[in-house]
Amino acid sequence: MGQPMRPRLVVSALLPAAVTDRARAEFDALVHEGADDMTQAEAIAAVRAHRAEGLLLVNTLRLDAATLAALPADLRVAATCSVGFDHIDTAAARARGLIVTNTPGVLDDCTADFAFMMLLAAARRAHEYDDIMRAGWRRRIGQGDLLGVKVSGQTIGLLGMGRIGRAMARRARGFDMRVLYHARNRLPPALEQGATWFRDLREMLPQCRFLSLHAPATRETDRIINAGTLALLPRGAVLVNVARGGLVDEDALYDALTSGQLFAAGLDVFRAEPDFDLRFAALPNVILSPHIGSASVETRNAMGFRALDNIAAVLAGRGPIDPLWS
Ligand code: DGY
Repeated sequence: MGQPMRPRLVVSALLPAAVTDRARAEFDALVHEGADDMTQAEAIAAVRAHRAEGLLLVNTLRLDAATLAALPADLRVAATCSVGFDHIDTAAARARGLIVTNTPGVLDDCTADFAFMMLLAAARRAHEYDDIMRAGWRRRIGQGDLLGVKVSGQTIGLLGMGRIGRAMARRARGFDMRVLYHARNRLPPALEQGATWFRDLREMLPQCRFLSLHAPATRETDRIINAGTLALLPRGAVLVNVARGGLVDEDALYDALTSGQLFAAGLDVFRAEPDFDLRFAALPNVILSPHIGSASVETRNAMGFRALDNIAAVLAGRGPIDPLWS
């Protein structure tokens, strides 16, 4: 008797070795090995050539309606290694009967750790100090020079209070911060943990010395941070965005950072990625990172394993663990 047939999988992104090793061990896997993640055309060609039933992707592969239409009907499940799924046309996927899954729950802590790091770094000018040291220091810095903003004990507003927002709130409480949040619905007290809910974002903003974004990119949240909402923050506030660039009007953000309305910002995500607006790179009061909030060994492995678990479950007929719809 031969080996039982293993399900056919295409891994379209460059993933940690632990994840690709497992993909090869458990599936008949075509694992991409180029210099960059597969393009849409490459993914379509690979899924066709391999007659794949499963596709493992990350958010660099946009599954828009045209790409979904070009994928063969044999493909039964697409698992994105991300919690966000704004790169996927869910209506088109659903219409063609494709099951789509994401990886909620496994990246909350690392993403919130990263957001809090960006908050601290932006407020306390960590990157500017690092630049000075790398340039050799060798200059006097007076008691009144290069001062940052105190973090402990201040008020933070969270836009979005899902799992990552709540993980951010836990970190903020560790710094004795007062936590406010805006979300469509108020959370039950066990999840709110003393945070104050604002139905209206515009009422929350004037109280926020810090504002951290933790909402998905949707039609409703597009440019929710704009000239009008930025003007409602107290002068000298600090903004952190590790969620999605689409939440922010970047021209308004640039103006707020150069006018002093914002003291600083920590930005991990941008409207255009990877070709982000280079005006931000010229601003000393911005700390930048390349959409990398969940990037620890443990979390990136956990995300990949979770995506593989989802694909295995679907292809074994058990149904998805993390379906985007049911
Ligand atoms: C996520 O999980 O959505 C991260 O932003 C990576 O895409």
